[in-house]
Amino acid sequence: MKSEELFNEALKLFPMGVNSPVRYYSPVPVMFSQGKGSKIMDVDGNEYIDYSLGFGPMILGHANDNVISKIKDQLDNGILFGSITENEIELGKIIKNAIKSINKMRFTNSGTEATMHAIRLARGYTGKKYILKMEGGYHGSHDYALIKSGSGTMTFGVPSSAGVPDEVSKTVLVGQYNDKESIEKLFKEFGNDIAAVITEPVLGNIGVINPGNDFLKFLREITIKYSSLLIFDEVITGFRFAFKGYQDIINVIPDITTLGKIIGGGAPVGMFGGREDIMDKISPGGNVYEAGTFSGNPLTMSAGIATMNILKNKNYDYINNYADKLVNGLNEIIEENKINANINKCYSMFQLFFNDKKVNSYNIARLSDAGKFKKMFELLLKENIYLPPSQFETEFISFAHNNDDLNNTVNAFSRVLKCL
Ligand SMILES: Cc1ncc(COP(=O)(O)O)c(C=O)c1O
Repeated sequence: MKSEELFNEALKLFPMGVNSPVRYYSPVPVMFSQGKGSKIMDVDGNEYIDYSLGFGPMILGHANDNVISKIKDQLDNGILFGSITENEIELGKIIKNAIKSINKMRFTNSGTEATMHAIRLARGYTGKKYILKMEGGYHGSHDYALIKSGSGTMTFGVPSSAGVPDEVSKTVLVGQYNDKESIEKLFKEFGNDIAAVITEPVLGNIGVINPGNDFLKFLREITIKYSSLLIFDEVITGFRFAFKGYQDIINVIPDITTLGKIIGGGAPVGMFGGREDIMDKISPGGNVYEAGTFSGNPLTMSAGIATMNILKNKNYDYINNYADKLVNGLNEIIEENKINANINKCYSMFQLFFNDKKVNSYNIARLSDAGKFKKMFELLLKENIYLPPSQFETEFISFAHNNDDLNNTVNAFSRVLKCL
């Protein structure tokens, strides 16, 4: 198997053979070399229906002709100039027109950079120290994002990675998503010193967890009450459910938004943006430093513009209905076979949890049977269906998925779930 040979080479070069940890799974992660539409092909020539979509960005499917042709046009003109380019302005306008809370923005090269800068900006703007994040919320891999809650007696977070100083974790408070009381408690104790609350509006990195019970509206109100900022990390949700942010769908308007994934059309990207008075604090006009050699680079911007211009004219009902039908099909199989599982769905994202409880919090999600999920993942691979390789990721639908994909997927799941 070519996959195995290449993986052995990769193991000699990269820790566990990968350049990002979620790509690793035992024994040998599948290695893809091509994609077209809803399908990806591995180096051994097998073709799979793809529900990972590069962990979200490929909403139009792989190798969209128009996007590829726009990237090639840009390549002919050069890759990087280190100056302002028209491409940035064009993509910036598209985003500003679509998400009303984004008055000004900065492009970055990843979602990690976007949230890192958004957090620094919130601290610089408010002059306050603490950031409040949600347990199980993921905002990339910088120090301030790698914090989880400590034991019950501890108020501050603790590092979720070695190498993150305690001093950093002592500036990050960790609340529970969908649990207003946990947030209120932290605000009562630290309210005047909380620079910002940062959250994914829909959790997408612990499986899918929807916001319940006006939770996001509550976050908006409590941040206003204490003069803190609200940061919505829409790296996954931005332009995923409609040609706007999730914030526009539910009409809860944050001060700062972070985007990534879809807006780069598959090229490396991030963005943070928001109210003009806040964004004007960024250097060189303001005193909050932020920079990047590749930020807003012409190549990424051209992929983003092409993707967004196509997406603008798409009817999102298509992917949302696909997800409805798929999830209904899976729910029937689960019921008929009395499988201990249930599915969370948000528009065109879903996750099947091997859990007897409905998953509406981090604490319930983490009790899911990740081993069983892995077994399902492996069996589905044999059925030529590719899911993100973890119970705590999210399946995505693209505009390239079609009816045959849908039927083949439901039939494959039916065979696999009966085997488990
Ligand atoms: C909500 C959210 N924020 C931030 C990030 C980090 O983005 P990146 O991987 O581009 O650094 C991710 C990545 O999956 C994400 O899902």
